[in-house]
Amino acid sequence: MKIAVFSAQPYDEEYFNRYNKYGYSLTFFKDRLCDKTAKLALQHDAICVFTNDDLGSEVIKTLAGGKIKIIALRCAGFNNIDLQTTKDLNIAVVRVPTYSPEAVAEHTIALLLTLNRKLHQAHNRVKENNFSLDGLMGYNLHKKTIGVIGTGSIGLAFCRIMKGFGCSLLAFDPQPNKDAEALGVRYVPLDELVVSSDIISLHCPLLPNTHHLVNEAFLEKAKQDVVLINTSRGKLVDTQAAITYLKKGKIKALAIDVYEKEEAIFFKDLSGTGIQDDQFKQLSALPNVLISAHQAFFTHEAMYEIVNTTYQNLKCFEENLILENTV
Ligand code: NAI
Repeated sequence: MKIAVFSAQPYDEEYFNRYNKYGYSLTFFKDRLCDKTAKLALQHDAICVFTNDDLGSEVIKTLAGGKIKIIALRCAGFNNIDLQTTKDLNIAVVRVPTYSPEAVAEHTIALLLTLNRKLHQAHNRVKENNFSLDGLMGYNLHKKTIGVIGTGSIGLAFCRIMKGFGCSLLAFDPQPNKDAEALGVRYVPLDELVVSSDIISLHCPLLPNTHHLVNEAFLEKAKQDVVLINTSRGKLVDTQAAITYLKKGKIKALAIDVYEKEEAIFFKDLSGTGIQDDQFKQLSALPNVLISAHQAFFTHEAMYEIVNTTYQNLKCFEENLILENTV
């Protein structure tokens, strides 16, 4: 099978080559898949794509004009694909539903602790021989109320860790999770979670009804000094509203691993050119905003699972077996 791998980073090449147990022929393209690059895939049987590849209707139609019969997402989320068009054109879509919920949950905690204890600022100070603590005071997580929006595999893994910190856990999810309830997580309506939580962490998918879930109305209801963490999808948060409420001093701190317009920025080295996105510049200039560039998934264990499951998905397709991870 000939596979075109889009948005390929050096670590993708390394892992896909290292674990290529079925001997597939791989072509790596650094570029993201979009209308301009879709033609690169035409001589291949399958494409392998990531979160910021564009799988809108036009791109899928171009792929269907070639030999592409299957799209293998090497991620869990599938908000970037027009599933009606893939269905109409009989192109299979598979994904990696869970590769390491702990990788994302642990990164969420890393962001929360770094932000709260101002470790990013402390590190820079010590490097410059400034050992003053002025302005570095944090707060205990112990006994704080954490609101978790979405308690699937990542939300649950996050709840387990926060339970260990001695936090009270509130959750909102249209499908409550029995394992979370057994842990002592209390499901409440979204409004109650928003008004009662000291820290709110997003772990729900991006869907039409979760787009800009965190908007002005949400932030108006939130507690004074709320801390917000988003390691899920950038478009869950209305960035302009977040900037407004950070400036007003209502949001105490914001940590994001995902950003509304990340497609133009993340996974690229723009240190030589700078960036044009003024909203992003405003966010990254604020001292109480911590940003990582979509790296929550990025552990050895997760990369191994992503590659292994992707190969397994393609093998099942090739051998006409049931596609367990079909979207
Ligand atoms: P999952 O499918 O196991 O859980 C998602 C949960 O969200 C489900 O329990 C679902 O019922 C719930 N949900 C659906 N609509 C909701 C709503 N309107 N309000 C609240 N909850 C709602 O997914 P998983 O694996 O836990 O991943 C969650 C999200 O994390 C993914 O959709 C993806 O966007 C993001 N993600 C981010 C990564 C990163 O590197 N930053 C890596 C992997 C996933």
